[in-house]
Amino acid sequence: MKLRTAVLAWITALPASLLLARVHPFGDAGLFAATHPAHPTSIPPQADAILSAKCVDCHSEQTRPHLYGRFAPISWLMERDIVEGRKHLDLTAWDTYTPDRQQTLQSLILKEVRSNEMPLPQYRIIHPDSAMTAADIEALTSWAHASTSNELPSATTEGDSAAGKLVFEKRCTGCHALDQSHEGPKLRGVFGKPSAQVAGFDYSPALKSSHIIWNETTLDKWLTDPDAFAPGNNMSFGIPKPQERKDLIRFLKDSR
Ligand code: HEC
Ligand code: HEC
Repeated sequence: MKLRTAVLAWITALPASLLLARVHPFGDAGLFAATHPAHPTSIPPQADAILSAKCVDCHSEQTRPHLYGRFAPISWLMERDIVEGRKHLDLTAWDTYTPDRQQTLQSLILKEVRSNEMPLPQYRIIHPDSAMTAADIEALTSWAHASTSNELPSATTEGDSAAGKLVFEKRCTGCHALDQSHEGPKLRGVFGKPSAQVAGFDYSPALKSSHIIWNETTLDKWLTDPDAFAPGNNMSFGIPKPQERKDLIRFLKDSR
């Protein structure tokens, strides 16, 4: 009896599904299939291999046509993920992003894969081999930090406060101000103080329990990769260039 019901359900669902996929053809994820033979990017091969294997279906114009993607309602769900995914990150367009945008996205990619948010869980169920391995995460981390390595640390140990102010205005004021908390806490006087001391700011438990004293060394680590330094914190944003970090730290030190 149970078997017969299941078979019946399929017999009725299958044509319905085929029909629906045609009635709403935009929902046929097969139509999203690769529009470019390959994505031209400056991403180095090791990181590119991981992103190409595990992320391109939703984050590029190289979506591979999967058979299941031809059937509603799965195709509709996929359509939404692909449209949304490309909006946030389109690997095909990587080389057209500004260096600033690329750095922001690299920070976000690290955050998403470390917290196990990406690839989306529903995708991992269908593609079990798309789950991120520790080696993948390490490779993506060194990619995100790599823009750093070919830049020698400057001869001066002191950063330049005026240059730091410019970096601050460009890279930090989206979330921070010196005298007012926004998405991030206000930062005047942060240098020399323990972490998570701004009254009324809703810090993550991770930062609250970290007991960091903000100085040249700790700020440098934090600004290189906050997630590696204080795992689980809420600031997913790094500055890969050592000179920019040095200038920023000098600026924060002078803004007391
Ligand atoms: C099944 C489709 C799918 C796959 C596969 C997928 N993503 Fe996503 N991704 C999405 C969607 C949808 C969003 C936007 C909504 C959200 O953040 O959940 C997104 C958002 C993102 C964002 C932006 C987050 C933000 O806060 O702006 C990043 C970064 C990201 N994904 C990285 C990755 C990486 C890296 C991979 C591969 C390891 C990956 N994604 C695989 C669908 C996908
Ligand atoms: C996307 C938003 C965002 C950006 C961009 C950002 N931050 Fe943050 N920042 C935060 C959040 C949120 C916190 C609090 C983190 C927590 O509670 O885990 C934080 C915390 C901090 C702290 C610790 C403050 C304290 O009271 O202990 C410092 C220092 C800091 N940010 C510096 C910077 C600098 C410098 C920049 C620019 C290079 C920057 N941040 C860019 C969101 C951001």
